[in-house]
Amino acid sequence: MAESEKPNEALDLDGEGLVAEPRPAYGPEIPQQKEFFKIPARFGHVPVAEEPLGYDKDRRFEGHYPRIELPFQAVDVVKTGAERLGEVTELFPQGRNRLFFGDCLHVMRMLPESIDLIYIDPPFFSGRNYNLLFGDKNEVRSFSDIWEGGMPGYIIWLNARLYEMKRLLKPTGSIFVHLDWHAAHYVKCEMDRIFGYENFVSEIVWQRVTIHGDAKRFANVHDVLLWYSESERPKHFPQYAEHSDKYIESHYTGIDSDGRRYQLDNATAAGQGPARIFAGKKLEPPPGTHWRWSQENIDEYIASGRIIFTKTGKPRYKRYLDQSKGVIIGSIWTDIPPVNSQAQERIGYPTQKPEQLLHRIISSATETGDVVADFFCGGGTTLAVAQKLGRRWIGCDISRVAVALTADRIARILAPSLNDLRKQKSKKIKKGESLFDDIVENPTLTSVEEAKKKAVEASLLPTTGYSVEHWGIYEVNRLTKLSAEEFRRFVCRCYGAREWTGSDPNIHGVKGNELLFIGGPKETDVIRPEQVKAFAQSVIASRKPEERVGIMIGWGMDPKARQYAEQLMAHGEQVQIHYIKLRLWPLAGEELKSHVTRKHPKYKDFFAFILPPDVPRIGITRLGPMKYRFDVSEARSMNTGGKIINVQWDFDFRNGIFSATQGYQLCRKEKKDKGQSGFEGETVVEYAFEDVEPSSEVTIACRVQDDLGGEGMKAQKMKVE
Ligand SMILES: C[S@@+](CC[C@H](N)C(=O)[O-])C[C@H]1O[C@@H](n2cnc3c(N)ncnc32)[C@H](O)[C@@H]1O
Repeated sequence: MAESEKPNEALDLDGEGLVAEPRPAYGPEIPQQKEFFKIPARFGHVPVAEEPLGYDKDRRFEGHYPRIELPFQAVDVVKTGAERLGEVTELFPQGRNRLFFGDCLHVMRMLPESIDLIYIDPPFFSGRNYNLLFGDKNEVRSFSDIWEGGMPGYIIWLNARLYEMKRLLKPTGSIFVHLDWHAAHYVKCEMDRIFGYENFVSEIVWQRVTIHGDAKRFANVHDVLLWYSESERPKHFPQYAEHSDKYIESHYTGIDSDGRRYQLDNATAAGQGPARIFAGKKLEPPPGTHWRWSQENIDEYIASGRIIFTKTGKPRYKRYLDQSKGVIIGSIWTDIPPVNSQAQERIGYPTQKPEQLLHRIISSATETGDVVADFFCGGGTTLAVAQKLGRRWIGCDISRVAVALTADRIARILAPSLNDLRKQKSKKIKKGESLFDDIVENPTLTSVEEAKKKAVEASLLPTTGYSVEHWGIYEVNRLTKLSAEEFRRFVCRCYGAREWTGSDPNIHGVKGNELLFIGGPKETDVIRPEQVKAFAQSVIASRKPEERVGIMIGWGMDPKARQYAEQLMAHGEQVQIHYIKLRLWPLAGEELKSHVTRKHPKYKDFFAFILPPDVPRIGITRLGPMKYRFDVSEARSMNTGGKIINVQWDFDFRNGIFSATQGYQLCRKEKKDKGQSGFEGETVVEYAFEDVEPSSEVTIACRVQDDLGGEGMKAQKMKVE
């Protein structure tokens, strides 16, 4: 693989193959169901579904969706100068956030348990006439997979995924599932079974659109969010909304000379308590009550004017409006509007959720540094908010366009372009002072107060970059560029093993009792005798005599090394060292496909090797002062049957980080093809440079996605005048 001259081949582990051999399904059992699910004996035998639909005690959901072990391929790593890496864990092996392109069921099966909050907004069950969001072939397949079996099919499809989500949650973790009237009631019953009835936390009603007339019924204007926890002790931080003007007028009636509004609050609480001295006068609390404060606090509040006296001499406490947290939020949310057509956050596809909604959810169930995941992330609303709030995150989507939109959205948070920063201030930033990174590292770089404040706030939050990782659909040309470490990780995954987290450098992975050694990435890297010796010693040091099994995986083994391994076993060293040879399979060949798809014929759809689209050049035509037309109509998908479905533009491309210019994240036209709706990338766009000095040189970049999961980019310098 790495350094291989044969990019059109895939890896085989001498018979083990890319698909793990059958083994017992694993994962937690579903919780014991509550007594009240049991039918009273007097009714005789009445069948009651106690298990989630599609669940099987022995196979879990693997009967319907067999497990397939494929490695992740990192196709992009976005890091910034000011990056402060998070803790390295099994979930975050690079200390960076992770964005996956693939079917979330299979991606989740490859991840370890350690998530604090999962929010999902899965495709709703709304019959077959679902409007495509992004138009990828994958997305189309996913929808036909979902609708195939009507409501039961949808429920089994979702249950298999909810089950994995439960496995991934920490004991204090929570899940919010965003649905609407079509299926929320069915899904709630299933969640009772998967998460446990007692782990239901709240059913939130979010008023999604303004109430409109509907002659036939009360208009359906809300979505439902089902909140469950992994155990009975989820994290929760109450949330508050601002008081309405009407409430302020009627409740905060007092106004200080400096204009501060206040209300007068009771000075007592229930339960008999002692008398206290108020401004030199001893006052008994009314019977059955006590004064709310200690004598010390009373003296302090009187001195500061917080306690005042009514005409009848009763003490009252001044509660200021500007110190009020607001009104506590309940389970009906009517104060969060949908993303409107003018909103800065709007990308331009249906179902985009407002950031304010995710802000409330994430703030209510997590703290700074916690891990938030969205496995149906769409345009990345959850992850953008998680990034802004200093949470670590995991994202996943089956559409490559959705992944590209999310990646771009996060990049814009990490390094807002010159344009975005300039809009925030009155004075122009000089050349070289534009990047957020620079400001974070050196807040004195710019005199602009707002930018500084933002930078200081940001500097208090953990800011890691992120990687974009493919599962199942691999970019052929990148397979040849793996580092030794990435290669080991890749081979480990192919073998169905876990990476070794211990400190012994001779052990690279573990599968059951077996310890693994993985040779170098080059096809010329053969395993040498001294490596066998060192590995054998490590196996002996780490395992009891009856468990000393070591597997060495590599492109080849030096004959002397092989001899050495045989001698070790022959001389009763109580260690077995086996060797597995790596082999490359032709990608185009049927052998590989049938090997992968023997478990499930549908798996052939999401197992593919692809090439990025070719973007030979960007055509540039000057239309007027600072105004240009850009043309990438020569861009082509390099994958058989593929077509370009989206184009993104960054007119201020810097530091190698692509972050699309606002309004240029999703450039596409809707196309009907044989009655089927789809998209075609808009390859010609116009743009007027506003905040650039005439005659300066800028770099522009264009990124295109095809409908088979390929993404390509072209950057070009130009002089603007
Ligand atoms: C309703 S949208 C999510 C929108 C998102 N909340 C936002 O604000 O942008 C549902 C997403 O689920 C994705 N999806 C559908 N099936 C999937 C699967 N099996 N695995 C991962 N993502 C999937 C779709 O591509 C789509 O982007």
